Amino acid sequence: MSRRSFLKILGIGGLAGFAKSAFGFPTATDKAPNFDNKGKAIVISTWNHGLAANKEAWTILKDGGKALDAVEKGVRDSESDPENTTVGLGGTPDRDGNVTLDACIMDENGRAGSVAFLQHIENPISVARMVMDKTPHVMLVGDGALRFALENGFKKTNLLTEASKKRWEEWKKTAKYETPINIENHDTIGMLAIDKDGNISGACTTSGLGYKMHGRVGDSPIIGAGLYVDNEVGGAVATGLGELVMRTCGSFLVVENMRRGMSPEKACKAAVERIIAKHKSVEDMQVGFLALRKDGKYGGYSIHDGFDYALTYEGYHGMTKTAFMVK
Ligand code: GLY
Repeated sequence: MSRRSFLKILGIGGLAGFAKSAFGFPTATDKAPNFDNKGKAIVISTWNHGLAANKEAWTILKDGGKALDAVEKGVRDSESDPENTTVGLGGTPDRDGNVTLDACIMDENGRAGSVAFLQHIENPISVARMVMDKTPHVMLVGDGALRFALENGFKKTNLLTEASKKRWEEWKKTAKYETPINIENHDTIGMLAIDKDGNISGACTTSGLGYKMHGRVGDSPIIGAGLYVDNEVGGAVATGLGELVMRTCGSFLVVENMRRGMSPEKACKAAVERIIAKHKSVEDMQVGFLALRKDGKYGGYSIHDGFDYALTYEGYHGMTKTAFMVK
């Protein structure tokens, strides 16, 4: 059982007007929820914080709003949740105690915006969107990204909550200033949505690897690594140890696999196979991919057991567990 608590999932109610979902974990071979979504809105996102995030995204999708607005609104929910220790406010700091955030967004026109190593801003995804909407650039980092955010009305916030600070201080007692690399040290939220017009967008946001080196940036703000969207094909997002995803251009690879005819699940599986083939050992390293194809078909795959994702469309709101490679 991963630290993503099963009970926590059971505690979250269905959406108003939604049929009660099977809140168990349909496996990848249980095709029940994977019906033909063609022409209907749908949103998927990583981990069980995705349930609340999808719910936010659905407030836009259900009224015929744009997938781009839905994914931004959806992941903001995780960013602003101080209980979520892997995204935004309350995110686990680097080994020096600084919360540094990475995020990116991509729309159906192939536009993209990204921020990396951004500090003091609660909703980096909205800064990434502003980079996309208001600048000729794709990516701003560090102090430049912060300056841009403040100039555009974002407020400076202390992102290190008392609880995160306490955990960091405990960690320091035994950590020897070493970044822990293990299956648990991740939990990005990546989200993909298709709106009623059939257009796809995606968003990805994280505080990154807990107790990382100061200045470390992972896959999440890198277009093609943590997120990739091509409106002709579909989209993909990644979660897990960003270094593995960056070395293999993971999300781009998943989308290209779908372009070559693979199903979303097969496309994710092939990307996991590539990661395993390119690394000596993935024993303590987790990566999970999620993919959403233009026709509304979706799927995921991870290196190890324990990766699940939230899925929402008309009449369904629940968690799905992915298949995995290493027993
Ligand atoms: N996938 C998140 C990170 O490695 O930063």
